[in-house]
Amino acid sequence: MIHAESPALEIVNLRKKYGRLEALRGVEFELSRGECLAFLGPNGAGKTTLIRALAGRTRPTAGTIKVFGHPIDSIGARQALGLVPQDLALYGDLTTRENLVAFGKFHGVPRRELKKRIDWALQWTGLADRAKDLVGGFSGGMKRRVNLACGVLHRPKIILLDEPTVGVDPQSRERIFTMLDQLNDEGASILLTTHHLDEAEQRSDRIVILDQGRVIADGTIDELVLSTVGHSRLVRVRVDRPLTAPVAVPLTVPGNGEQRRTYHVGQAGRELIETRIDDVTVHLGPFLQAVQNNGYQVSDMEVQAPSLHHVFLHLTGNELRD
Ligand SMILES: Nc1ncnc2c1ncn2[C@@H]1O[C@H](COP(=O)(O)OP(=O)(O)OP(=O)(O)O)[C@@H](O)[C@H]1O
Ligand SMILES: [Mg+2]
Repeated sequence: MIHAESPALEIVNLRKKYGRLEALRGVEFELSRGECLAFLGPNGAGKTTLIRALAGRTRPTAGTIKVFGHPIDSIGARQALGLVPQDLALYGDLTTRENLVAFGKFHGVPRRELKKRIDWALQWTGLADRAKDLVGGFSGGMKRRVNLACGVLHRPKIILLDEPTVGVDPQSRERIFTMLDQLNDEGASILLTTHHLDEAEQRSDRIVILDQGRVIADGTIDELVLSTVGHSRLVRVRVDRPLTAPVAVPLTVPGNGEQRRTYHVGQAGRELIETRIDDVTVHLGPFLQAVQNNGYQVSDMEVQAPSLHHVFLHLTGNELRD
């Protein structure tokens, strides 16, 4: 059923209204085959609504979703998708293993393979020694790990994960991403939402930012940085005494007919100097030298590269939670 060239997911003009509230306002993007795409956005941006629409849990008001080139409601399209929902969906009165068996059967994992898959899941969730315990008595992070295992046990071709690592400890997070990398290496395409910008930065090939039901950015980290905050570094220098006046920094601008310019940094009365530097190898030396030439000693220094955090703040004006 898979078209040779079509992307894993193709979303065009997706809209969803809840009464008067428009949760999705014409969302468009593609998930390429074998890609890991991270969806970011402030609370209420529409991430869960989008994932639920992709997984067939909610009916969009308008728009189209294609799975490997086929309409979402065609036979096979649904089977290609695996969902790990934000709200935990588990049987609390069953054990870990019983939950895995139930979800495995529900997703049609062949009986001869089920045990092997469950052993695999117990290994990367780190819950092998809790296989016979009731899930209802588990901690939040442990339930989240079982929830994740139940959603990927059948190794779907497209995995949709809605905040899969909320409340999960760092070691378990590492194991979860190793497991996702493994599925990704075996050809699965992954779409995940997260509020962990570092996670998105390190683990995904591409990032889409959603805000108020619209895609406001789509690209690799480098593309997003370049199109928003730019590649210049923020340099912060602490000096040994308050400045009596801003420090004059001579700057040679290379190119045809080199230009000499001076710029001023810092404020009188402050011990902290902040500036932006385009090319650290060229401009940092002269900057520090100028500070010294003005009679100040540098007592501390920090160079900050632009990160996804800056991009996110620039685009949405919002801090993230969790
Ligand atoms: N079943 C529903 N009925 C009515 N409104 C809803 C429903 N589900 C979501 N909404 C609304 O749609 C908007 C988007 O919600 P959604 O859960 O998709 O956001 P989100 O990006 O997942 O946020 P979070 O980061 O908090 O998980 C919100 O304003 C929310 O109140
Ligand atoms: Mg959500």
